[in-house]
Amino acid sequence: MILETNNLSKFFDGVKALYRANIAVEKGSITLIIGPNGSGKTTLINVISGFYKADEGKIFFEGRDITNKSPFEISRLGIIRTFQIPKALKKLTVLENVLIAPLGHGDSAFESITGKWVKKETELVEKAFKILELLKIDHLWDRKAHELSGGQLKLLETARAMMKGAKLLVMDEPIAGVNPVLAESMLRIFSEMKKEVSFLIVEHRLDIVLKFVDYAYVMANGMVIAEGKAEDVIQNPRVVEVYLGVENRET
Ligand SMILES: Nc1ncnc2c1ncn2[C@@H]1O[C@H](COP(=O)(O)OP(=O)(O)O)[C@@H](O)[C@H]1O
Ligand SMILES: [Mg+2]
Repeated sequence: MILETNNLSKFFDGVKALYRANIAVEKGSITLIIGPNGSGKTTLINVISGFYKADEGKIFFEGRDITNKSPFEISRLGIIRTFQIPKALKKLTVLENVLIAPLGHGDSAFESITGKWVKKETELVEKAFKILELLKIDHLWDRKAHELSGGQLKLLETARAMMKGAKLLVMDEPIAGVNPVLAESMLRIFSEMKKEVSFLIVEHRLDIVLKFVDYAYVMANGMVIAEGKAEDVIQNPRVVEVYLGVENRET
């Protein structure tokens, strides 16, 4: 397992946003988290990526205890949460967006002023292109990010995370707002990348994601209430009741 949580809890003013959650992500897998609104999915990934401190429990990444390390330390270890590309960066090209992704990391900024930058920069461009190829957006390298479709932007966000050295990509609703055809091709691309990186994904659109998912966890009221292979988990009567039932009532 690349990631494991052990009785992970997070409370907000006494509300059990996350309560004794045990999840594991196998290396090279796409692991899915589902559950109704307010069930604690985002809280779980925010605790894992260090944006919230855990109140109880432990997180292990590659066997190492990373509980309550800072988001910066956690991302350096290789757990990268993808974020929407900020408006200002959308004026830059696809390649530029990938190239500047690692600048948050102290050493590359340092190396750039120590004279090694020419060699370093060539290597960075090569690496950026490899990642764009992997995500099948290399042909878009000189387009401004604001010209991209919703799905292509998501792939660019993923490319930026890969450039930061992701071993585990953590994504909150990566295909929200992406048309079904592109969403499906995104998931196919992700599954082709499983040799390079593992995925922990929160996603509602089960019709699209389920066939690409290796293992799924179902949350309700901050707790993991079911887990298993995706196709089995959605048959579980408890899951149908708390998740699919609620979702149907909402829509
Ligand atoms: N920053 C926060 N402050 C207070 N309560 C929060 C905060 N984040 C989440 N919660 C609460 O924790 C519970 C789980 O929320 P969340 O993790 O966002 O659920 P989900 O992503 O499954 O919709 C909800 O009751 C929500 O209101
Ligand atoms: Mg959420």
